[in-house]
Amino acid sequence: MKIGNIEFGKYPLFLAPMEDVTDPAFRLLCKQFGADMVYSEFVSADALIRNIEKTERKLIIHEAERPVVIQLYGREPEPIAEAAKKAAEAKPDIIDLNFGCPVKKVAGKGGGAGLLKDIPKLLEITKTVVKSVNIPVTVKTRLGWDESSKIITSLAEQIQDCGAQALAIHGRTRAQMYTGEADWTLIGEVKANPHIHIPIIGNGDVTTPQRAKECFETYGVDAVMIGRGSIGRPWIFEEIKYFLENGDEMGLKPFSWYLKILKRHITENIEWLGEHRGITHSRRHLAASPLFKGIDHFKPTRIAMLRAETKDELFEILDGIEGKFELK
Ligand SMILES: Cc1cc2nc3c(=O)[nH]c(=O)nc-3n(C[C@H](O)[C@H](O)[C@H](O)COP(=O)(O)O)c2cc1C
Repeated sequence: MKIGNIEFGKYPLFLAPMEDVTDPAFRLLCKQFGADMVYSEFVSADALIRNIEKTERKLIIHEAERPVVIQLYGREPEPIAEAAKKAAEAKPDIIDLNFGCPVKKVAGKGGGAGLLKDIPKLLEITKTVVKSVNIPVTVKTRLGWDESSKIITSLAEQIQDCGAQALAIHGRTRAQMYTGEADWTLIGEVKANPHIHIPIIGNGDVTTPQRAKECFETYGVDAVMIGRGSIGRPWIFEEIKYFLENGDEMGLKPFSWYLKILKRHITENIEWLGEHRGITHSRRHLAASPLFKGIDHFKPTRIAMLRAETKDELFEILDGIEGKFELK
């Protein structure tokens, strides 16, 4: 499958955009473990055109992470188009439009998934941004606003007609936020629609190689996008790739192998953000990592790990875990 001129092999795996998670260091890690495309955290169009420095930093990309997508969110066509032009100067491979963010501060103000309540505007934004840049524009959205308005099947065609070159669908409604299970049946219906010719990227709850394979085979999607399953586990892409290629699981590596990756990530976060912010930024990955799940009597160590304030303190705790506990 292709998005614009970007060619992907069989079974592409994409790293989902995640605020406060998919910064350049994490994207590069995921890329090195086999992610076929990586997305930035969402970038506020309004903040970008107001030249807010913190927002501009989100446009920093590295050659090694290509193909890389910058995702924008906003409420009105013109400001988003203006922001898209600015984002395009950072030379991403694709600009993605966020019509799926459910949080109140975004959707409640008419951005992100809020646009699922104003389809004409959602389409106008897509059309305007497509016209404003000369790189592919893609869209990421949800099934609909709520249970009674799962409009994705017709919306997908409309989005395609606006010139979007791929569509990522998270199999939940806005009302569901992150609760319940992602429903892939409608994603499969969109993909099976003979009028749809743009790539369909399926997203939601893929956390195992087996589930990724099922999503490709049962729902026929062109790519699978992985979000939470990668937090504290950037090697998930390698595990899935191995399973898709060989039909069996990769097998566990020594604890030290995984630990080294997490330590490298923490070190890069510190280089990027300074010691204090680098460590607090890493905590979400440490808290979510499967590396520390199922370890007997781990609670006090876990608390200490998530409270450590300096790199030395944190690494001493992490090094102490090795050998003391058995990996399950
Ligand atoms: C911490 C976090 C931040 C997120 N930030 C974004 C974002 O910036 N843009 C976006 O389109 N989706 C965002 N999402 C949604 C994910 O991209 C994805 O659609 C969702 O988590 C479902 O996929 P998963 O089950 O693989 O995590 C975020 C999700 C999480 C958990």
